[in-house]
Amino acid sequence: MSTPLPSPIRWPAEALWEALAPLLPGFTVEVLPEIDSTNTELMRRFRGSSTAEPRPEPLLLVAEQQTAGRGRLGRQWQSRRGDSLTFSLGLPLAPTDWSGLSLVAGISVAESLEPFTPSQGGKPRIGLKWPNDLWLSTSQGERKLAGILVETASWEGLRYVVIGIGINIRAVALDPAAPATAVPGVPPGGLQELLPEFDAPAVLLRIIPPLVQAVQAFERFGFAPFQARFAARDVLAGKAVQLSDGTTGTAHGAGENGALLVHTAAGMKEITSSEVSVRPVAAPPAQGARPC
Ligand code: BTN
Repeated sequence: MSTPLPSPIRWPAEALWEALAPLLPGFTVEVLPEIDSTNTELMRRFRGSSTAEPRPEPLLLVAEQQTAGRGRLGRQWQSRRGDSLTFSLGLPLAPTDWSGLSLVAGISVAESLEPFTPSQGGKPRIGLKWPNDLWLSTSQGERKLAGILVETASWEGLRYVVIGIGINIRAVALDPAAPATAVPGVPPGGLQELLPEFDAPAVLLRIIPPLVQAVQAFERFGFAPFQARFAARDVLAGKAVQLSDGTTGTAHGAGENGALLVHTAAGMKEITSSEVSVRPVAAPPAQGARPC
């Protein structure tokens, strides 16, 4: 049984700063009780305004509550203070190819929360759904555990990336009238089903240092070295999928550039567009089986 979070929440800002300042010169950590969206705020700060200088320094911005959290494809991201972890990591980055960064962030978070090597056998409980979701295998089935929103901006030749991550720490029934954090009709999962002793601050401390290292490795080497690590957790592999443009096919993992490979009637398609969403097609009931 997990203990409720104390108020105020004690965030490990100093420990994170000590771990990351050597890797990221000029790095700071900031925790806000409330903001519209940590991604939006980091983009505002990076761009500056008539009254504020642009700020391209690396910054981890944690919000205890977001009032207008954003997801991919214009969706909303709902969360509640203490029940979820919401943060954005902003930093200058200059990879030769940006494709696959959101997968790398997902791989890093999943591995930090549930270390797993395929030689152990079995399957990890935290899976990755291309391109930006973490899913948890729970006693009630597959549930969305976390989502990642990667955004970039440039200013005077400098590219800045904001990696926004929302993790459901405790599964709560969200307002059914509001857009959910997961697939419509499927309630989100909560990390405490896997790690009951972990609250939001402990999760933050565990995932951020490896995340920064993974992003820096991606900047130097691209997605290719992460391909097998993605495959070990790929929840779509071998499944019938439907793309938002109506195309159907079978998912075949991610290529060296992080694109989703889908075998369709017209041959193998490489899906790279961030405008495309992918969903598994429900399997028909087995022959002879009756719905119950
Ligand atoms: C998705 O599942 O579509 C991505 C969800 C990303 C949510 C996080 S919460 C912290 C950061 N701030 C935002 O407004 N969005 C991201």
